[in-house]
Amino acid sequence: MRVWSSWLVAAVAANCQQTGHHTDWPRWCGKVYEAGYPSFDPGGQILPPTPVPGPPLLRVQFRPRYSLYLDSEEYGEFVVNAEFSQYHGTPWPNITSPSEGANRLIFSINLVENDNPLVQNTVPVNSTGNIFRFELSRLKPSLEPIRVVLYGAPETGVPTWTATSSIYYLPDKQNGSVTRIDNLKGGLWFKNAASGRKFEPLLFYGFYASYDGFLRNNNTTEIQQYADLGLNAMTPLTTYHDSAPMFAYMDKINLRFMYNLREGYKNLTYVEENVLAARNAEAIFSYWATDEPDGWQDPFSAPVAAASLIRKLDPYHPVAITLNCQNYYFAEYSEPADFIMEDVYPIGINATFSKWGTACNTTYGDCGCDNCEGTVQDVASRLDDFARYESWLGRWPKTKAHNPQSFHGQGYWLRDPSRDEEHVMNVLAFNHGARGIVSWLWPTSAALAAAHGELASVVTRPPVLQFLVGGDGPNAIKVRANGTDVVDAAYWTVGKQMLVSVVNGGYVDVEGGVEVPASNATVIASMPWGSVLWKLEGGSLSVPLLPALATSMVILDLRG
Ligand SMILES: *[C@@H]1O[C@H](CO)[C@@H](O)[C@H](O)[C@H]1NC(C)=O
Ligand SMILES: *[C@@H]1O[C@H](CO)[C@@H](O)[C@H](O)[C@H]1NC(C)=O
Ligand SMILES: *[C@@H]1O[C@H](CO)[C@@H](O)[C@H](O)[C@H]1NC(C)=O
Ligand SMILES: *[C@@H]1O[C@H](CO)[C@@H](O)[C@H](O)[C@H]1NC(C)=O
Ligand SMILES: *[C@@H]1O[C@H](CO)[C@@H](O)[C@H](O)[C@H]1NC(C)=O
Ligand SMILES: *[C@@H]1O[C@H](CO)[C@@H](O)[C@H](O)[C@H]1NC(C)=O
Ligand SMILES: *[C@@H]1O[C@H](CO)[C@@H](O)[C@H](O)[C@H]1NC(C)=O
Ligand SMILES: *[C@@H]1O[C@H](CO)[C@@H](O)[C@H](O)[C@H]1NC(C)=O
Ligand SMILES: *[C@@H]1O[C@H](CO)[C@@H](O)[C@H](O)[C@H]1NC(C)=O
Ligand SMILES: *[C@@H]1O[C@H](CO)[C@@H](O)[C@H](O)[C@H]1NC(C)=O
Repeated sequence: MRVWSSWLVAAVAANCQQTGHHTDWPRWCGKVYEAGYPSFDPGGQILPPTPVPGPPLLRVQFRPRYSLYLDSEEYGEFVVNAEFSQYHGTPWPNITSPSEGANRLIFSINLVENDNPLVQNTVPVNSTGNIFRFELSRLKPSLEPIRVVLYGAPETGVPTWTATSSIYYLPDKQNGSVTRIDNLKGGLWFKNAASGRKFEPLLFYGFYASYDGFLRNNNTTEIQQYADLGLNAMTPLTTYHDSAPMFAYMDKINLRFMYNLREGYKNLTYVEENVLAARNAEAIFSYWATDEPDGWQDPFSAPVAAASLIRKLDPYHPVAITLNCQNYYFAEYSEPADFIMEDVYPIGINATFSKWGTACNTTYGDCGCDNCEGTVQDVASRLDDFARYESWLGRWPKTKAHNPQSFHGQGYWLRDPSRDEEHVMNVLAFNHGARGIVSWLWPTSAALAAAHGELASVVTRPPVLQFLVGGDGPNAIKVRANGTDVVDAAYWTVGKQMLVSVVNGGYVDVEGGVEVPASNATVIASMPWGSVLWKLEGGSLSVPLLPALATSMVILDLRG
């Protein structure tokens, strides 16, 4: 969040290694924002690739199921995707033989080091999420990633597909914490002493917390009050050097924290000093390597260097990066992150004309929310944009998180979001794939503190937690809602249950009935969030009127 670190402005002005065009002009997301400069194409946009004509290509990718395994575990898994694509891959031979296996890819996943196979099997073409187990004892524990390669071939034919990945197989830790990402479902899993040293699903939900006016006080009561709201995580804007007692208290009460490196992330001595201080904490769940490197047009190499050093010193925790721009060198700036956060702050902005006295559009100006419309829907659109870019790039999708707006001011944001707007934006974020929440900025108003506490108390705990972190989803649901497109719904499944989440992202009630298809559901098991009284009838969840800015979650039992 740019204005809070005003000292960075001087650093940026002195930095001649920025990305984009006209690097000597004041820019944000590659665009000039002060009056007196001409508009120009900022560059760095990801565009849909040109489809390859002819039959579809087969795109083969794989990943270890979890971003890391420990030598206390017995089995690992690989996830193999073999999708048809118009953009990426190699043409699949059009095998007309009706024989069994004609439409399967035969593959072997081998260690690069010695070509020993870990898994040999087949997958149907045009399928994703195929899981294959292997014995971890085939690997040697190491602090370095172990490189693996997949070779694939049609039933009769030469191996044409290769894909590479790497796997961490780490010595288990006797103290401190470990976090891993589920590369299939996107959620985080965390273990420490408080979890009995077993991995548990973690939906991190909290705030960036100020040093001045909060952490600087060294007052543990204030941290306890924060946790008592139901928030389970924090990104403290301080360091061990300045706030060791605060981190010790977070360890004590298991308030999970993301360690902030943004102030000095380009200084690798600073990064090293801080990672060494933080890496064995009980409550650390990740590092925040850098904040808005895309907005600042930082050199692409800076986040890469910081992330690689963090991983070298501490392979047990993921690295997060916050991106502020809608479409400015997404590929380069997101690449070093294990998970990406977007900080879309759309409430109370003028999306078309800025405090700097210029228009805002895709080539000009800064209105506080890049290429936004100034509506709650901007949050969902940004998460969808990121997922679309990843598919255009042919990338394995990264885990995503949302940074909600819990502030106003600075000439961009006229007002705070209301309680209902905050809930709408966060639930929209979940519906569009967010797996965690870090809001800017604590301390906030009593109303927003309570609003976040209420939602966090529900989504960070069972039964909702299991769906949002470990469920199959979110899958979008097409809703019948009196012709309006502001009603957004998604579902997740776990075993024989389904979580349905419905948001009215509009400022008026939707009358005339809202129906959410749920054909396989037999009964409503619970309504963990919201006060909408859904009925399950004729294969749909329905309600005669969906109030303005309503958010609701329903758990349904499924047939079979
Ligand atoms: C494969 O060949 C069959 C028969 O020639 C044809 O109908 C079909 O469209 C082809 N499929 C692809 C993906 O090219
Ligand atoms: C591959 O699968 C997708 C998603 O299920 C489907 O939409 C598409 O038609 C399939 N492509 C082919 C060539 O079968
Ligand atoms: C934590 O475990 C490491 C080895 O895994 C050990 O070096 C270190 O002393 C331990 N620290 C504490 C506080 O027990
Ligand atoms: C808070 O604790 C830190 C670290 O122990 C110390 O350096 C600092 O002086 C303390 N601040 C106050 C206001 O007591
Ligand atoms: C710590 O914070 C609590 C809650 O705001 C306050 O009541 C208490 O006086 C503070 N303690 C100190 C030593 O400032
Ligand atoms: C880099 O960080 C180290 C350790 O915090 C510090 O001593 C040094 O002054 C920093 N260098 C610069 C150029 O800021
Ligand atoms: C944005 O600011 C411009 C210029 O002050 C003004 O004309 C326009 O009405 C404002 N738009 C909104 C939505 O406030
Ligand atoms: C953005 O606004 C500037 C200033 O009004 C204008 O020159 C430019 O053409 C606009 N860009 C687009 C893409 O509309
Ligand atoms: C649909 O909503 C409009 C108001 O937007 C309302 O006038 C109309 O009665 C509703 N339709 C039905 C079938 O209730
Ligand atoms: C409903 O169940 C059928 C059969 O098990 C399955 O194919 C279908 O995908 C399910 N639909 C939903 C929305 O889960």
